[in-house]
Amino acid sequence: MMNKTEKILILDFGSQTTALIGRRIREFGVYTEIIAGDAPLTEAVLTGVKGVILSGSPESAYGEGIAPDKRIYECGLPLFGICYGLQRMTTDLGGLVEPLPKMEYGGVEVEIKTGGQKAEHSQFLAAFDEAIPLNQILESGDAGGAEETRAYEPPLHAPLRFTAWMSHGDTLTRLASGFVQVGTSASGFPAVALHQEKPWVGVQFHPEVSHCERGSEILAAFVFSMCRCKREWTMEQYVEEARAELSARAGDNPVLLLISGGVDSTVVGALLLKSLPIEQVHLMYIDTGLMRKNETQCVKKALEKLGAKNLRVINAETEFLAALKGEEEPEAKRKIIGDLFITIQEREVASLGLPESYFLAQGTLYTDLIESGKGVGKKAHLIKSHHNVGSPLVDAKRKAGKIIEPLDRLYKDEARALGRLLGVDEDVVARHPFPGPGLAVRILGEVTKEKCDILREADAIFIDELKRRRAPDGTGSLYDEVWQAFAVLLPVRSVGVAGDSRKYGWTLALRAIVSSDGMTADVYRFPMKDLLEIAGMITNSVKEIGRVTYDISSKPPATIEWE
Ligand code: XMP
Repeated sequence: MMNKTEKILILDFGSQTTALIGRRIREFGVYTEIIAGDAPLTEAVLTGVKGVILSGSPESAYGEGIAPDKRIYECGLPLFGICYGLQRMTTDLGGLVEPLPKMEYGGVEVEIKTGGQKAEHSQFLAAFDEAIPLNQILESGDAGGAEETRAYEPPLHAPLRFTAWMSHGDTLTRLASGFVQVGTSASGFPAVALHQEKPWVGVQFHPEVSHCERGSEILAAFVFSMCRCKREWTMEQYVEEARAELSARAGDNPVLLLISGGVDSTVVGALLLKSLPIEQVHLMYIDTGLMRKNETQCVKKALEKLGAKNLRVINAETEFLAALKGEEEPEAKRKIIGDLFITIQEREVASLGLPESYFLAQGTLYTDLIESGKGVGKKAHLIKSHHNVGSPLVDAKRKAGKIIEPLDRLYKDEARALGRLLGVDEDVVARHPFPGPGLAVRILGEVTKEKCDILREADAIFIDELKRRRAPDGTGSLYDEVWQAFAVLLPVRSVGVAGDSRKYGWTLALRAIVSSDGMTADVYRFPMKDLLEIAGMITNSVKEIGRVTYDISSKPPATIEWE
């Protein structure tokens, strides 16, 4: 998709921050694509590419680190090496990379010498001057990149100094021929280098990391001053292209989408409904009985508002609860749910009687395809099934070339922005992630209908209050502050008082975490007043719960869910 669009290509050599480079540049309004560091740079891959970034890597350029296709040095495009990327360019072009006596890590002061470079180089160096605001660099993108590049006049107070963010154990001990060193770290090692003739630059730090001073300006200077990109990557344009592509791909064939109730699948649903004749779109949602309070109604309402007609909601609560009866072991519970989900899915899809030619749509995101260290190219297609189990249905459709994944170029927050643009209810768009096995992994031990109902009530109070209460800095709700929040029902009863008598109530744990991707998580520093009031509301309204605790474990060592 998006072949017509100008883009910055990012070669992924395995750094944990590669996806972040893409994210930052997209925020400027320029499309980015991440591919495996050693992917062949064919004409098709280079279509629309205005510049290439070589990412960082945990490997060494003289060791296990992979090399890019040599055509990168012949294609005439601007190149920007970041950390390993610069070391890679240096090694490939005849320079020398060797271990540092001591790793450079964290905030490191860098000094830049300016002057005497070619016009586009001096424009790149302007990014290091704190007198040049980011907006000025971005505006050169608004101008359409057509303007003649003017040389940047270094300020009188040159050299420029700033604090970069570094994380590397190798350094350039001999620059490749044609390169000059223009930036030096406080410990005396090369920090910025550029080629005197070609539009090739490199830095030994990570401008994509938010605490790297001048980081955004440096990325923007590469994108706009050196690559002359236009700022034209907008969600409106994405929708237009995605819709055209969807109708061309689907033709007259039916398209089936399995809705999980989460953001991604609902946004795909919206896109299908806005792109294809309504009758062509078939939506299926399986209510496992392990959903949050009002979840099924909420999803149904959101889809009907978008015009859904062929929407099949399957109530499978009895089947799931029967299958889970008596099972206490977490992995066994997950397996039961995954297997039953597949059985029901196959049964229900068969009963729709769709012709063999139907397409299956999925809410796969760009980040689902990027596996750090491998790059998109090598990961091929990671299958995102509803309950993270291999689904024969998805496998068969993929083999037949009948899978449609219209969000596979978007990051999570872009998928949310797309949902808003398509008119998906804010309640659905802003929703926290929810695990496939649902409340079953939040009810420790055996799952019963009664426990599901208790947990649903308590969780709804918690979530409604998070939505209603302002964050301490007043900028949004507590719900928006946290990445994920939920309640967990523990198989622990404790003593309490009810009127004059003693009673034994269940124990509930509240969890609220901050995270950027769910891979790691910190405990949310919950304002104590709100926490106490919410706990009080829960024990007052849900009589089966006698005690409330707050989970103060980060990930690692704990996971976000309890089972
Ligand atoms: P953990 O508990 O592994 O969770 O720290 C990380 C993130 O993944 C979600 N999660 C799941 N999502 N199916 C899903 O679709 C699952 O089986 C599953 N288990 C955990 C969890 O809610 C958190 O956002």
